[in-house]
Amino acid sequence: MITDTFKRPLRDLRISVTDRCNFRCAYCMPAEIFGERYQFLPRPQLLTFEEIERLTRILVRLGAVKVRLTGGEPLVRQEIENLVALLAKVEGVEDLTMTTNGFLLPQKAQLLKDAGLKRITVSLDSIDDAVFRRMNGNKSGVQEVLDGIAAAEKAGLQPIKINCVVQRGVNDHTIVDLARYCKDHGYIVRFIEYMDVGNRNGWKLDEVVSAEEIAAMIDAEIPLEPAERNYRSEVAMRFRYRDGGGEMGIISSVTKPFCGACSRMRLSPEGSIYTCLFATQGTDLRDPLRTGATDDEIEQIVRNTWGSRVDRYSEERSSLTEPRDSKVEMYHIGG
Ligand code: GTP
Ligand code: 5AD
Ligand code: SF4
Ligand code: SF4
Repeated sequence: MITDTFKRPLRDLRISVTDRCNFRCAYCMPAEIFGERYQFLPRPQLLTFEEIERLTRILVRLGAVKVRLTGGEPLVRQEIENLVALLAKVEGVEDLTMTTNGFLLPQKAQLLKDAGLKRITVSLDSIDDAVFRRMNGNKSGVQEVLDGIAAAEKAGLQPIKINCVVQRGVNDHTIVDLARYCKDHGYIVRFIEYMDVGNRNGWKLDEVVSAEEIAAMIDAEIPLEPAERNYRSEVAMRFRYRDGGGEMGIISSVTKPFCGACSRMRLSPEGSIYTCLFATQGTDLRDPLRTGATDDEIEQIVRNTWGSRVDRYSEERSSLTEPRDSKVEMYHIGG
């Protein structure tokens, strides 16, 4: 087990398997920037599945128990189910899951389940087709994603969580409908405060709908009561529907930051580790991996990186007069 300068342990590993995505959400990969000519990472620079597996084994020795595959869009990485199969065999990984936009789930859900994926989180920012299309750069309608979610359910990936980033004036008028849809289908929806990740989404504070407002909007239509967090570093505040019809969550990274319990390490597609979603720099592990470092030597690099970790960006945000520049992009380290 390792701890950082604030005594926070390493528990969660978020692995971004690609910087590519088949959607162009304006708050993440705006189409004007990520056009035809945008240079994504060339294949040889990506960690292989075997390299990811090796790093995972090392990080598990240091305390990681929860592994989440993200991107970009993890399902656009060829044969991602083979990586799932490798990671499912790593002793000590207690939770193996994925955050996806769901578009490719009709083809992939069963393969992922068979490979050992336990549960899944699907991003769906609105249940209104026009609003959703506007948000994802017109790459998908709502029905395609709902079909993906249904495929995950059929394959037995449980529980199913739905992520919705709430942006004022963009999709906030549709969140109650999304909550209702998820409640009716037994999916756990989580509304996420719009964050200033990366440097390209033109984030403005007045576009953030606070957790408090989100809770009030839902509660007015579908009465809620607060519920306990499942575990200390859980990012979502949980609520139960008062009629007994399930639960939902709100992720308040802007108005009520949760850095105090942050136990997440992020691995980028080309093999750097980041100790914060808002980091400006990572620590490269690919070079040591490819130049013959032993597991113990790589473990030592991770120990040093985590041991000197001082990140608490969301808690500091309000006291910063200038936004931090050159932050790593969200599609690069997977949220
Ligand atoms: P569970 O394992 O199901 O509790 O979910 P999770 O929170 O790991 O899942 P997910 O990847 O879907 O995270 C939900 C969202 O919370 C992310 O997309 C981010 O927007 C936000 N989030 C997750 N981790 C962090 C973090 O360390 N810092 C901040 N500021 N936001 C985070
Ligand atoms: N603010 C909040 N959430 C975001 N996501 C991507 N960009 C942002 C942002 N700027 C979400 C995605 C996905 C998860 C991995 O992170 O919608 O659900
Ligand atoms: Fe792709 Fe997810 Fe970013 Fe949207 S938020 S562009 S689906 S990685
Ligand atoms: Fe963790 Fe950084 Fe998010 Fe705070 S801002 S919760 S330290 S990832």
